[in-house]
Amino acid sequence: MKRVMRGAVLASVAAAAVTGCVTDKGACETMSKGCEPSVVVKPFGKTKDGQLVQQYTLTGAGGVVMDVIDYGGKVVRLFTPDRTGAKTDITLGFNEVAGYETHDPYFGSLIGRYGNRIAKGTFTLDGVTYRLPINNEPGGLPCSLHGGKRGFDAYVWHSEPLSEGRSVGVKFWMTSPDGDQGYPGKLDVTVCYWLTPENVWRIEYEAVTDKATPINLTQHLYFNFKGEAEGTILDHELTLFADRMTPVDKGLIPTGEVVPVKGTPFDFTTPWPIGARIQADNEQLRFGGGYDHNWVLNNQSGKLAPAAALYEKSTGRFMEVWTTEPAIQFYCGNFLTDQVPSKKPGKKLCYRGGLALETQHSPDSPNQPAFPSTILRPGAVYKSATEYRFGVK
Ligand code: BGC
Repeated sequence: MKRVMRGAVLASVAAAAVTGCVTDKGACETMSKGCEPSVVVKPFGKTKDGQLVQQYTLTGAGGVVMDVIDYGGKVVRLFTPDRTGAKTDITLGFNEVAGYETHDPYFGSLIGRYGNRIAKGTFTLDGVTYRLPINNEPGGLPCSLHGGKRGFDAYVWHSEPLSEGRSVGVKFWMTSPDGDQGYPGKLDVTVCYWLTPENVWRIEYEAVTDKATPINLTQHLYFNFKGEAEGTILDHELTLFADRMTPVDKGLIPTGEVVPVKGTPFDFTTPWPIGARIQADNEQLRFGGGYDHNWVLNNQSGKLAPAAALYEKSTGRFMEVWTTEPAIQFYCGNFLTDQVPSKKPGKKLCYRGGLALETQHSPDSPNQPAFPSTILRPGAVYKSATEYRFGVK
């Protein structure tokens, strides 16, 4: 999608914002009839080191509304209609910046430089060994997770509103300096979020580097189609367009094998309730504490294709995930507890209270020569796109 020049965008956004579709709560009052698309910008809060955090409320012409902040490109709230047209916030997040700074489930965040795990926090590239910060130790085995101690989720990004036709969005960009979290190369990253009239949230990632470096950008939104803090996601029905997955060791690092899912609890090639087989006597489920694995998508073309579908029958909410990426991490919130606060006063989150479908390359690819490469070289442009398509059934 083409980007509009900053001046024009601000003008069209300002015009849209006075059409009256958006309330203070970021809700669209004429949901069932559709909305005037708009972007409204307002302060969200401050980081603990005093940086101002801005919130963008994107109201799509199809009625989906999302609140997004420039701190980590986080989606704070996401309102979609159920089959009666009633809207609910279906994502996990926090009402204040401090929530994001205190807890680390990566709610709604952009993840970089490397989404997922790198074994022992080290890799060798072009004969040089690099060391990354260790920030995770499942099964007692240390690794670097989601970009290290301070990943892209913990930065205030540059940002500006976007608008084109009846789509609205926000553009984020930042520069990660050479050596950031141990990674080589100065990396310039741009991420655009678009909300289309068809209720598609499209994410476009782009990056360039001045030295060869691994890169694996993703988005870590947690979904609960019954609503935030409305119980577990075990009743959601999941489809994964993937005949194979990458088994892991107890540190959740791929063993290097790519195995068929047929006949196992990892077979989501037809829709299955997430909870149906999660207690099965299966070593992989024991290592993950449930599903926390990477599936190799059937589509390896680099072109946008279906990766996953999710359905919740009491609300009728349905979503398709499309991506250009070769793999997807399905994480069903095994590390979530009621110690993580809800956005709703008096409500609690819970174990498996949300699930993430993170499009990406497979974990530990810099140490796995048989996996598709995650190395970006100077002169090349990293490009990736993912769409979350919201609807009802
Ligand atoms: C990983 C989980 C991890 C979670 C952190 C997911 O992407 O797969 O293992 O605990 O991120 O929120």
